[in-house]
Amino acid sequence: MDIEAIKNQITSDLKDLGSLQGLEEVRVKYLGRKGLIAQLTSSIPSLPDEERASFGRKVNEFKSSLLALLDEKQKAFLAGQEGVNANTIDIGMPGIAPELGHLHPITKIIHEVCAIFRQMGFSIVEGPEIETEFNNFTGLNIPLEHPSRDVFDTFYLATKDTLLLRSHTSPVQIRAMKSHKPPLAIVVPGRVYRPDAVDASHSFMFHQIEGFVVDTDITFADLKGTLEFFAKAVFGKDISMRFRPHFFPFTEPSAEVDISCILCKGKGCSLCGRKGWLEILGSGMIHPNVFKHVGYDPKEYTGFAFGMGVERIALLKYGIDDIRLFFENDLRFLKQF
Ligand code: PHE
Repeated sequence: MDIEAIKNQITSDLKDLGSLQGLEEVRVKYLGRKGLIAQLTSSIPSLPDEERASFGRKVNEFKSSLLALLDEKQKAFLAGQEGVNANTIDIGMPGIAPELGHLHPITKIIHEVCAIFRQMGFSIVEGPEIETEFNNFTGLNIPLEHPSRDVFDTFYLATKDTLLLRSHTSPVQIRAMKSHKPPLAIVVPGRVYRPDAVDASHSFMFHQIEGFVVDTDITFADLKGTLEFFAKAVFGKDISMRFRPHFFPFTEPSAEVDISCILCKGKGCSLCGRKGWLEILGSGMIHPNVFKHVGYDPKEYTGFAFGMGVERIALLKYGIDDIRLFFENDLRFLKQF
């Protein structure tokens, strides 16, 4: 067989090649120890002297071009098998990571505060943002003509005038007490609404966390101990607290609770308005009239309640001076938490 004949045969062998295995067979057939190329080489000694050198060169050239051709075929097969061409795609290159979101700072504070109360045995309960006039006001000892409705007064829903957007989370006290018997230890996170003009410290919508405990022998000392544990867990062990007498229709006695200013430690600065104290929540012993409204005997049960603004806690904890930042959805702000 001469070189030209072998070349033609290779072309036809490679044309209908179906697999890597087939390629290997072709390789053996031509380049193997007893292959066609080896046969050509072994015929060299029997050639006339003048022909040997040039024939030998031709066979060598043919052999190396055949080697290159088979290599190329093999690469093409492998690339097809893996679906990617290892030479053109760098499979070690990092991909495009999807952008991950995270919790809103207000949600984080709610989780943190609720976790502190959960440690003390409180349950987390939520209530609806659309409330009845009774749960939001009357049941909480705020009758229609009571002057303290003014500061709380809210958005009434036009179709039914007994429904409104709750102005605080306290109505969940009524819901929980009506549906459960004491002992109760409950915290209530949620949104509330007030007809307030928006400025750096006010918003028509904000978040509160309500807490209350009812049992047969709850005292003001329980309220103080509970709130002190909470305040130190959030603001640090070295803060001090004070209870300022105050008025809420649904608690008696009532107190507003201050912590020593976290910035100046009580000396007086611009954050605390030179007072050395920061107000963080309202609290008190649950008013007997509230118990009467939910069917509890005020002679049998006592309890305490408190309510705090989540944005206020967040402003203080993170050192932010404008509540509007929480609601503007500006990622430059939100990404910092
Ligand atoms: N509901 C009151 C408010 O919104 C806070 C509060 C709750 C006060 C419970 C006392 C007891 O201001």
